[in-house]
Amino acid sequence: MKTFTIAVIAGDGVGTEVIPQGKRVLEKIAKKHDVTFVFQDFNWGAEHFFRWGSMMPAGAIDLLQPCDAIFLGAVGHPKIPDHTTLNGLLLPIRRAFDQYANVRPAYLYPGVESPLARPKGGDIDLVVVRENTEGEYAQVGGFVYQHQPEEVAIQTSVFTRRGVERIVRFAFELAVKRNKKKRVTSITKSNAQGYSMTLWDRTFEAVAAQYPGVQTESLLVDAAAMNFIRRPESFDVVVGSNLFCDILSDISAIIVGSMGLAASANLDPLRRFPSMFEPVHGSAPDIAGRSLANPATQSRAAATAYGALNALATILVVVTLFGVTVAYLVYTALGRRTGSTGSGASALRELSGIEAGV
Ligand code: IPM
Ligand code: MN
Repeated sequence: MKTFTIAVIAGDGVGTEVIPQGKRVLEKIAKKHDVTFVFQDFNWGAEHFFRWGSMMPAGAIDLLQPCDAIFLGAVGHPKIPDHTTLNGLLLPIRRAFDQYANVRPAYLYPGVESPLARPKGGDIDLVVVRENTEGEYAQVGGFVYQHQPEEVAIQTSVFTRRGVERIVRFAFELAVKRNKKKRVTSITKSNAQGYSMTLWDRTFEAVAAQYPGVQTESLLVDAAAMNFIRRPESFDVVVGSNLFCDILSDISAIIVGSMGLAASANLDPLRRFPSMFEPVHGSAPDIAGRSLANPATQSRAAATAYGALNALATILVVVTLFGVTVAYLVYTALGRRTGSTGSGASALRELSGIEAGV
């Protein structure tokens, strides 16, 4: 029997409510598939910050490294600035483990209502592939005259040929494996940003030439935002920079029903380091502690984690696996408009009946 060690960082807010449901999904999967998950819980996050002045201890990365995957709830607390919590936990983990591919599928499940009038179940089926280690999130910059009236802040984006090429290639591979529309849409802003984005465009063209069977499209990010609303059914795999796809993946989440349905895989596709699986929703302090959090996303993250661990699962399998197993979970959790941790538990009971696709 194969054993996987999963580092669990429940974190803050609703993270602590949805993680137990995600663990239960993994446990269910384990029983069915003759694998064992050993959970190693790390109590890092805001409480750690209040006590020790940091979101996680100095040796945190070394503690996570031997694990097979990282399961993250949410990070953030109303009493600590967001840039402190996130640069103290989530973002350094993404960078330290070179999790360069951030994969965010958006699928409109039958029975779930989209805020858009036209698309029906199954019509929206796209994946946002977000560059996850550089670009606008490189954290290169500084202050001059800090806290003085003439203060200056410099925040530089960093785009490397290697970084762009590997994420673009990942997107093409994904389009081939998904074998759906076989279309990759590249997102830039090269009409205004003449250096980084033209490097991106040139790299995209060079990689695209190696995939003659895949259609391509290049959109400026503002037009892409519009087209996610206007013609979401036309997208298959969408690839773009860290910030652009951060923003677009909120749109893709909401048009398939809810931020509460968006799962995010932070992958090191080369498997040198553990990958990290998380819901896209944050710590949601407004509903934390009220048992209102929808655990479906953490459950999807659980299914993704399993998929990614199990070598048979490429992202394609993961996405299909979601479609088959978790659609029902999502449907029961959202479609019946209960949406609480409790409903997740009952959906989970029913999950056993539809696990055939795992
Ligand atoms: C996300 C989140 C994070 C990001 C924040 C919390 C730093 O919005 O995972 O999309 O921008 O990466
Ligand atoms: Mn985001």
